[in-house]
Amino acid sequence: PSPGIALSPSSPGRNTISLLASESNAKNVKLPPNALVLPPTTQLQALLTIIRDEKTQRGDFVFTSDRIIRLLVEEGELDYPPYLPPATQRSGQSPLGLVKLPRLNHLPVIPKTVRTPVGMEYDGVSFQGRICGVSIMRAGEAMEAGLRGCCRSVRIGKILIQRDEETALPKLFYAKLPDDIAERYCLLLDPMLATGGSCIKAIEVLLSHGVQEDRIIFLNLIASPEGTHNVCTRFPKLRMASTVPAPPLITAWIDEGLDSRSYIVPGLGDFGDRYFL
Ligand code: URA
Repeated sequence: PSPGIALSPSSPGRNTISLLASESNAKNVKLPPNALVLPPTTQLQALLTIIRDEKTQRGDFVFTSDRIIRLLVEEGELDYPPYLPPATQRSGQSPLGLVKLPRLNHLPVIPKTVRTPVGMEYDGVSFQGRICGVSIMRAGEAMEAGLRGCCRSVRIGKILIQRDEETALPKLFYAKLPDDIAERYCLLLDPMLATGGSCIKAIEVLLSHGVQEDRIIFLNLIASPEGTHNVCTRFPKLRMASTVPAPPLITAWIDEGLDSRSYIVPGLGDFGDRYFL
């Protein structure tokens, strides 16, 4: 186990995995430079505890997952250099202290000045490029509402990838993507990253439709170290070519590993079953 996770001998016949609350899980897992984990706030830990609990009923599972998904989509405060509006850059100081980017922090913005109702000019920003969501069915569809909650009319494509029973490799069964996807930034949605096989296949599909590698951001709830490594090393150039540096993989939590069926441990079981069935 990674140093932040303690295997406790206190429950006979059963290993319990407990998180040492004072430690960040991200800091104990060597993350590839293009992966980012949300700060392990007590709020996030409490939310994850609810969805991991096998006793949590569907209503609470859906509500709580949606809250975490919203945090992921909005992904707020990171230690990137803050964007300073031109007026601030000119004066060398910000009236607000650290200027935070609008949420959806990993999308590039360009300066935009608007006039307020009291006749003053406000130097702000507006999103630079068009975006779309692409969910990896079925579990990724659970993240669509969170994305729509932030980007009302966002276009959403879908990709269905399943294991080929003959080759045991991930196989593309269905893809329906916006016609102009090649000009868009893509938020790829899948809550659970196990081996990374489906995610890699989905990224290949996006690339084959002309999406630029550096315009894909993978949003994920819980990732295994193996999956994180596989995706991030396979696509090392996956970066936003933007005014804001951004990693392509944003996950709420990195877990311990995988079991023999490639389920994430401690994980939360089958996300799609718990959310939809
Ligand atoms: N998909 C899931 O739903 N759960 C896992 O643990 C791994 C993949």
